[in-house]
Amino acid sequence: MLRDHLQLVGTKYGCGMALCGACTVLLDGVATRSCTLPISGVKPGVEITTIEGLKSKEGKAVQAAWERLDVPQCGYCQSGQVMSASALLAKIKRPSDADIDASMAGNVCRCATYVRIRAAIHEAARTLA
Ligand code: FES
Repeated sequence: MLRDHLQLVGTKYGCGMALCGACTVLLDGVATRSCTLPISGVKPGVEITTIEGLKSKEGKAVQAAWERLDVPQCGYCQSGQVMSASALLAKIKRPSDADIDASMAGNVCRCATYVRIRAAIHEAARTLA
């Protein structure tokens, strides 16, 4: 629905089994795998945020840090990474490495940008402080 009907192609289709995180969007601010979520599973009134509409202060800080630290490699996983990172910072203002690892564990990066992802989350948290 997001990609083919609404042309919101920033959300990627990865594994199709909610295992890789490339399809992550926010449902009322909660990071959610969209690839296994049918429209019928979305309750009326729930706000769906994709990478195109990520305008929260956390989302902006994460995207700025991603750019400053040059996080992406191929980029395929990155919109999902940004969505999950934004949800994390909305919940935990100064996450520890363990918080980041636990929260981001469901977002797989085949290019292994994990070190830069963690650094960018810390950087974004610093700019929000
Ligand atoms: Fe290539 Fe993450 S940047 S899969």
